[in-house]
Amino acid sequence: MGWLWTFTNSSIGKKFVMAVTGLLVILFLLIHLAGNLTLYWGEGAFNGYVSVLDIFKPIIRIIEVILTLIFIFHIYDGIRLWYENKKAKSIRYKINASSENSTFSSRWMIWTGGIIFIFLVMHLSTFWYAFNFSGKTEVDGIEQYYNIVTTWFQSPVYAVSYIIAMIFLGFHLNHAFQSFFQTFGWNHKKYTPFIKKFGTFFAIVMAVGFASIPIYFFISSLGGK
Ligand code: HEM
Repeated sequence: MGWLWTFTNSSIGKKFVMAVTGLLVILFLLIHLAGNLTLYWGEGAFNGYVSVLDIFKPIIRIIEVILTLIFIFHIYDGIRLWYENKKAKSIRYKINASSENSTFSSRWMIWTGGIIFIFLVMHLSTFWYAFNFSGKTEVDGIEQYYNIVTTWFQSPVYAVSYIIAMIFLGFHLNHAFQSFFQTFGWNHKKYTPFIKKFGTFFAIVMAVGFASIPIYFFISSLGGK
C-alpha cells in the first residue's frame, strides 16, 4: 500500500485523484439534474421519482457515503494543489504574469469550488435534511417532496443564491472538463479545441439546467400570489 500513498501524494497523483473524483461528481450531477428535471412534469412525476429512489434507500445510503468520500478527496487535493501552485507561482511570477498563462476559470478554481462548497452546505441542510430527517415528507398520506422543493424556491433569497451558485458551478465545470483531458495527457492539435468547446457547452447546459429550476419556480410563485 506504500506505493499508493506515495502516488497520491505526488503531484501527478493529486491531479489524478482530482480528475477521477471530478469525473464521478460530474456523473452524479448528470443523474441528479435528470432526476430534478422531473419537477417540470409536476407533483406526481417528482414525488413518484423520489418514491422510486426510496425503494433503494439502503443502496442510496451507500452511494451517499461514497459521494461524501469523493467530495472530501476532491476538496482536499484541490486545496493542496492550489497551495502548491501558489507557492510555485510566487517564484515564476517574476518571469510570467499569471493572467497571460491561464484562463479566468483555471485561476479561480479554488474560489468557484469554495462557493460550490458553501452552496452544498446550504443545499444539504435544507433539501437533503427535509427529505430524510424532518418527518414532514408526508401529510395525511400525501407525499410532500414536490411541495418542499417548490416552497423553498418561493423565497427570493434562496432562489437567487441557487442561481448565483450555479453560475460558479458553470465556471468550475468549464475548466474541470478540459483539465481532465490534460491530466491524462490527451492533448491533440485537432481534438483539443473541440474538447474545450464541448466542455464550455456542457458547463453551460449543466449551469442553465440547474438554475432554470429556481428561476421557474420562483417566477411561478409570483403568479400564484
Ligand atoms: C436546482 C437545483 C437542485 C435541486 C432542485 C436539487 C434537489 C435535491 C434534493 C431534493 C435532494 C434530496 C434528495 C434525497 O435525499 O432523496 C438533493 C440532494 C443532494 N444534492 Fe441536490 N439539487 C440541486 C442542485 C445540486 C447541485 C448543483 C449539487 C452539487 C454541486 C447537488 C448536490 C446534492 C448532493 C450531494 C445531495 C445528497 C445526495 C443524495 O442524497 O442524493 N445538488 N438535491
